[in-house]
Amino acid sequence: MSKSSQLFPVPQSFGQKAQINKASYEELYRESVTDPEGFWGKQAEELLLWKKPWSKVLTWDFKTPTIRWFEGGKINLSENCLDRHLASRADKAAIIWEGNEPGETRTVTYRELHAQVCKTAALLRSLGVKKGDRVAIYLPMIPEAAVAMLACARIGAIHTVVFAGFSAEALRDRINDCGCSLLITANEGLRGPKAIPLKETCNEAVAECPTIKKVLVVRRTDAATPMEPTRDLWYHEALAKLPADADGRAESMDSEDPLFILYTSGSTGKPKGVLHTTAGYLLHVTLTHRAVFDIKEDDVYMCAADVGWVTGHSYVVYGPLSNGATTVIFESLPTYPDAGRYWDVVDRHSVTIFYTAPTAIRALVKEGDAWVKKYDRSSLRLLGTVGEPINPDAWLWYHAVVGDSRCPIVDTWWQTETGGVLISPLPGATATKPGSATLPLFGVQPVLVDDDGKEIVGNGVSGRLCMKFPWPGMMRTVYGDHERFRQTYFSMYPGLYFTGDGCRRDEDGYYWITGRVDDVLNVAGHRLGTAEVESAIVRSGLVAEAAVVGIPHEIKGQGIGAFCVLRENVAKDAATTKGILHTVREVISPIAAPDAIWFVSGLPKTRSGKIMRRILRKVGEGEFESVGDVSTLADPAVVSEIVATVKGAPLLQK
Ligand code: PRX
Repeated sequence: MSKSSQLFPVPQSFGQKAQINKASYEELYRESVTDPEGFWGKQAEELLLWKKPWSKVLTWDFKTPTIRWFEGGKINLSENCLDRHLASRADKAAIIWEGNEPGETRTVTYRELHAQVCKTAALLRSLGVKKGDRVAIYLPMIPEAAVAMLACARIGAIHTVVFAGFSAEALRDRINDCGCSLLITANEGLRGPKAIPLKETCNEAVAECPTIKKVLVVRRTDAATPMEPTRDLWYHEALAKLPADADGRAESMDSEDPLFILYTSGSTGKPKGVLHTTAGYLLHVTLTHRAVFDIKEDDVYMCAADVGWVTGHSYVVYGPLSNGATTVIFESLPTYPDAGRYWDVVDRHSVTIFYTAPTAIRALVKEGDAWVKKYDRSSLRLLGTVGEPINPDAWLWYHAVVGDSRCPIVDTWWQTETGGVLISPLPGATATKPGSATLPLFGVQPVLVDDDGKEIVGNGVSGRLCMKFPWPGMMRTVYGDHERFRQTYFSMYPGLYFTGDGCRRDEDGYYWITGRVDDVLNVAGHRLGTAEVESAIVRSGLVAEAAVVGIPHEIKGQGIGAFCVLRENVAKDAATTKGILHTVREVISPIAAPDAIWFVSGLPKTRSGKIMRRILRKVGEGEFESVGDVSTLADPAVVSEIVATVKGAPLLQK
């Protein structure tokens, strides 16, 4: 039997106590697709606190596209995450924070978190932030990041969290795209051995952001911090000055009022602002967090993602807090100070559910089992992965070594656009196969289509993954560009939402995501567009033309290979490579820096001038003999030069 077809049944002890078993999953799933409005209406009533009930569960049309859930309803997300827990969970830990240094921790109870969010909401109001205004958040993984998000949600401001590893330019572009009036940051971030000068980066960005009126600064370290007195405020000082009766009330929001914008890379152009709205998103993350992680009252749940990504939004902050769970916020790195850090955290905080990305697992596999075994992991009962396909070897290691062959693994497939998980095992219901995200969750109706958009029915088939019915957490638009929303997701296969992923459905109906079929890269679980990286490379001034492809990478899953045609008189040397890397880091982020840079004299183009990426992908993958038909190229000779260049060049050290 091949590794990937091994079946791991639900462990009996887990299944007996789980909230959802196989029979109840099947029944609920059937109900959710035969009567979606009935199903979601009931879930919305049971799982959320409403200020006013909705009049219509769903209005949708994938042509325009229009998606509206729970119209007429009034709700506030922060009340769902905080106020409603005060009666029974006021002294329960809402957040356990594990800082950069081992043992640097802070526990925030629901009572304390509620008070802090109300005060911060009042502070935002006092700074003139109103419902519908946009607020940028550029913070490290500290409790204040969750506080800032919840405070925005409380007053109806739309937050856009920017990963604190992004450059000044990336931050500036995001702020300007959605016209933020306030930026919330910290003076410094700490990541392993490094201090990150966040405030300096903000100063650089904000110098070119005309809409920013104020910058609120959390003091994370004692480092000297450049402040601009008319614009910048220390968060702790501003809170201290707030009058006792300052207005921290929760705004009454329409179900479809925007909640947040999160920028993500596509196959073309600049990152787009994925817009999520209030009630549908909240319902989706509440239900999926509860079902996928089988959340129980005494769980200590840890998702190691950063709040700068959608996983941090949905499964560090909103899903867990809506369910009244204890969520661990982890500031550091999995390898700091050593490769045992995750398990040290699990041990000290008695973590019961642990959720991370395959890239982190692969990096830790390499460090050896001793780092894991050094710590007591008996508290763990469930493991999860997200962000990219997990190779069966990494899955098996995670299962056997980290989970002592005792904990089920939920491999959760979803996207920034989907808001929450769509395809995943339910740990008490679904037998798992290493590498498969298994089955659709409630209300999710996946279809596979061929290149012409024809649905491929039956099992044992492969195609492009689409969805034929909306789910509550799906994005509603690209901020400021509804046509781009239509074009990107609904124009390729009319009547369907196209995910951008390739997928196989095996004989048992299990889904296996095979990766992106568009020009989107997934590097260590970080999503990047080839166009975005190419334009950053050209910005170096050294390169006339660049083409970027995904290449196999042992730890990152996918690395970045860049074919560069240099400008005249630029030397093909290490200094040029360095210059290119430097520019990409400055323009986007270190996460976008290529793993290989190949200097070539031309790119393979058709006679009409279109780059044949198919050929570059094959060469980048090392498949030199199977580049396919090159007869339509304007100059077929470039292919042999490209092959020779790639063959001779090792990956760069990063
Ligand atoms: O290709 C899929 C991959 O990550 C893409 C979405 O990236 P992003 O919007 O950054 O969201 C990541 C976190 C949800 C998808 O189109 N992906 C995500 N989860 C999985 C996955 N690929 C395989 N298996 C997964 N579990």
